[in-house]
Amino acid sequence: MTSERHLIGLLLGTEEDWPRAFEEIVRRLGPVPGAGGTQHVLDCERITIEPFWLRDRPRYNLVIDRLAYWYYHPREWLKKVALMDGVYLLNSPFTFQSMEKHAAYCAMMRLGLKVPDTVLVPYKNPLDNARYAYTAAKYNRPFDLDAIAEQIGYPLFMKPYDGGAWRGVSRISNAAELHAAYDQSGEMLMHLQKAIDYDVFARSLSIGAETMVMRFQPDQPMHLRYAVDHAFLSPDAGAEVLTIGRLVNAFFRWEFNSCETLVKGGEVYPIDYANACPDVALTSLHYYFPWAMKALVRWCIFALVSGRRPRLDLALDAYFEIADNASTCYSEKLAAYRELADGYFEADRYHDFCATNLPHLDEIVLDWVAGPDFDHLLIETVRSVYPAHEHDQFIAHLRGLLGMWVSDESTRLQAA
Ligand SMILES: Nc1ncnc2c1ncn2[C@@H]1O[C@H](COP(=O)(O)OP(=O)(O)OP(=O)(O)O)[C@@H](O)[C@H]1O
Ligand SMILES: [Mg+2]
Repeated sequence: MTSERHLIGLLLGTEEDWPRAFEEIVRRLGPVPGAGGTQHVLDCERITIEPFWLRDRPRYNLVIDRLAYWYYHPREWLKKVALMDGVYLLNSPFTFQSMEKHAAYCAMMRLGLKVPDTVLVPYKNPLDNARYAYTAAKYNRPFDLDAIAEQIGYPLFMKPYDGGAWRGVSRISNAAELHAAYDQSGEMLMHLQKAIDYDVFARSLSIGAETMVMRFQPDQPMHLRYAVDHAFLSPDAGAEVLTIGRLVNAFFRWEFNSCETLVKGGEVYPIDYANACPDVALTSLHYYFPWAMKALVRWCIFALVSGRRPRLDLALDAYFEIADNASTCYSEKLAAYRELADGYFEADRYHDFCATNLPHLDEIVLDWVAGPDFDHLLIETVRSVYPAHEHDQFIAHLRGLLGMWVSDESTRLQAA
């Protein structure tokens, strides 16, 4: 019997919880059978940062990146290994550096999605560039911020064009708040966006061909933001949220991303869907954490063992053709986008692969989450995240939610 080795590189910042979970699941899973009787041996390694020769061959076959969005040395290494060595990346910096929130708004408006009306206003403060004063004096047209806001209508949101983690986000109800927020924006480039007065907030996390749509409560503290609720959307709205997440990801070649949509009376409004480093913390995902870890393991193994090729090119025309077809309505367009997206993610081949090659993963993860090793991870994570006087409270909180997952998952597997 032949065997093939694959090395998964983890490019990490401060996180310990999910990397330990990921490494443990891969270790417990052991070799994975592939085509022609080949055994695929998977190893994980944390990537260190050091000088690299541009012609060096990397040892990694696939890299999960959680760092390049703010640390540029590893980001440039990722570009090198993508361009020169064909390393499979979750996510590729090529697809995120130029395709931030603003680009995603533009693309999804072009595809006919219900992105709220959005305006990009020029910088508030002069840029630190010797050419700025002359250029601005000659070409920056004066504009009436109040008139733009009134045209959008209050309330509205002001937020950076490339935002993340609520940096610089404010909800604005009147002209005084508008000017205060704009004055504060300084050298950040800001969008003004119409506020949606929503019924429910659906946040979907996609990993390759899998998506989890979760009820999100942004006004709650972090540990309560994701509510465990399996029926908070109508079937139609649920399907639409799922399709939007997949569409955005397939369009930009993002394989590990979260998408935020606001649902109001059956209408789905996407507001944020360019999160190169989506939140997968145990303390925030709690009940959904085992799903996220399994999906990440499954997708990485599928990519490596089935020989899926990383793609640097975009195929935007196929989407634009659907968008531009005047004879189809919104729901027909969504169905056509969904087909393209499922095709890009090879959804059928992926599900077959998981059923055939990873049949025991569910039991392995259930066994692990129900056992003492996972409990250690939970305790250590709480200790690293919360102050000492809150440890007992959060350990109990997380144990309760994960206990509920163990019970639901046992029932599901018994029924299957
Ligand atoms: N158009 C809108 N209508 C209603 N609420 C909005 C709108 N835009 C933003 N928000 C609220 O502001 C929050 C932050 O906005 P947004 O998600 O765009 O910023 P972010 O910096 O990417 O945040 P995060 O990293 O948490 O996703 C949203 O979670 C939502 O609660
Ligand atoms: Mg957001």
